[in-house]
Amino acid sequence: MRCESPSDTQYSALSTQHSVLSTLFVIYSYAMRLAVNIDHIATIREARKADEPDPVAAAVLCELAGAQGITVHLRSDRRHMQDRDVEVLRRVVSTNLNVEMAASAEMVRIAQTIKPHRVTLVPERRDEVTTEGGLDVVLHAGNIEKVVKQLLDSQIDVSIFVDPDLEQIRMCHKIGSPKIEINTGKYADAWNGGGNWQTELEKVALAARAAKKVGLIVFAGHGLTYRNIDAIATVPEIEELNIGHSIIARAALVGLDHAVREMSELMRRPRRLPGK
Ligand code: PXP
Repeated sequence: MRCESPSDTQYSALSTQHSVLSTLFVIYSYAMRLAVNIDHIATIREARKADEPDPVAAAVLCELAGAQGITVHLRSDRRHMQDRDVEVLRRVVSTNLNVEMAASAEMVRIAQTIKPHRVTLVPERRDEVTTEGGLDVVLHAGNIEKVVKQLLDSQIDVSIFVDPDLEQIRMCHKIGSPKIEINTGKYADAWNGGGNWQTELEKVALAARAAKKVGLIVFAGHGLTYRNIDAIATVPEIEELNIGHSIIARAALVGLDHAVREMSELMRRPRRLPGK
C-alpha cells in the first residue's frame, strides 16, 4: 500500500490549524482572570443585621457567570464578612477563595483553621471606608515575613497588596511572598479627575513588569470600574484582577450574572482608549 505524502494544501491547512491553536493557547494562557470581591453583599446584609443577601449564594452566582475567583475581606471589626461566611465559602467556592486580612496573630489563626486557597495581606485602619493604600512591606518587613512564612507553612498561598512602588515590590520578593496584588487605587482616582491616569497606568505597568521579572505572580485591583478597566486589562503581566464595589453596585441594578459577564467581556476585549 502506497502512503500518500500530504499535499501542499494539506500542509498549509495543518500549519494554519496549528498556528490558530497556538494563538488560542497563548490567548488562553495569558487571559486575565476576574476575581469578584463580594464584601458588599455582606454589607447589605449587615445594614439590617439580617440573614440576607447571603454571600455564599452570591459567590455561586459569580462563579456560574464565569468569575474565576471569589475574594472577601475579613476585617477585624467584622463590618461585613463574618467568620462563618468565610468558613462556608471555603466549602462552597469551587474556583479560588482569596481572603484579604491584616497581618495579625488573630487573622493568621483564623486562616490556619479555615485554610482558604489564598490570603492577601492588606493594611487596615479601623475608621477607613475601604483599604486606603498598599501594605508598607518595607516598614513592617519583620512581621510580614513571619506571617508569610506561617501561612505558606500551613499550605496557604500568599499575596501582598502593595502600591506600584519598586522598593515595596523588591521587599515582597525578598521576604518570600510568591504573589503580589498591585494597588490600582491611584490609577482609579486619576481616572476620576484626580490626576493623569496615563502616568498612574505606567506606574502599574512598570511595577508589574519588575515584579514578574523577579518571579512574582502579579495581580491587581482596587477602584476598578466598567469605565476604567480597559487600560489595566491590557497590562500583560497582570494575571488576575480583584474587583468589588463596581460589580456589586451594577449587580444591584442589573443582576449579578449580568454584571459579572459584562466585566469579564470588557477584560477580554478592552475598548480603545482616548490617547492610546
Ligand atoms: N483589592 C484589595 C486588596 C481590596 O482591599 C479591595 C477592596 O476590598 C479590592 C481589591 C477591591 O476594590 P474595589 O471594591 O474598589 O473594587
